[in-house]
Amino acid sequence: MNIEFTLNGQLTAVEVPARTSLSDCLRHDLRKTGTHVACEHGVCGACTVIVDGDAVRSCLMLAVQADGCQVTTVEGMTPVTGLSALQESFHRHHALQCGFCTPGFLTTAHALLSAEPEASRDRIREVLSGNLCRCTGYVSIVEAVYDARRAYQENR
Ligand code: FES
Ligand code: FES
Repeated sequence: MNIEFTLNGQLTAVEVPARTSLSDCLRHDLRKTGTHVACEHGVCGACTVIVDGDAVRSCLMLAVQADGCQVTTVEGMTPVTGLSALQESFHRHHALQCGFCTPGFLTTAHALLSAEPEASRDRIREVLSGNLCRCTGYVSIVEAVYDARRAYQENR
């Protein structure tokens, strides 16, 4: 099937078999390999991207369902040079080690803070509870997201 969606601000056309997941389409067809895939059944959150403002598990969504949507991957959250305020905060708080889970945490947190820039630590914990990290521990990740709130409050 031929589909078209806006990917990181650019209108993008791609032809995919109807059963292709959005994660496979992004990684294999469009080379947006910042979207990581681990469990492939909606448990780990590594594949999270933002679709029309919502954090979505791209392994559970078909690419054809993205037709006409606005899709943002971790590449689309990253400035041309340097890091975003959220990425800087992850760096400052040592909120990653191997980094495999990090794109999923960044996209989930970005969707949260864009909608709720005043989110409390409890709310951040609740929203991030669907993302698994096997090597960092969650305290530094929650602190990094909490500390990045200022940038989202200023951009309101
Ligand atoms: S790879 Fe999609 S939730 Fe784990
Ligand atoms: S930083 Fe390694 S899995 Fe999260």
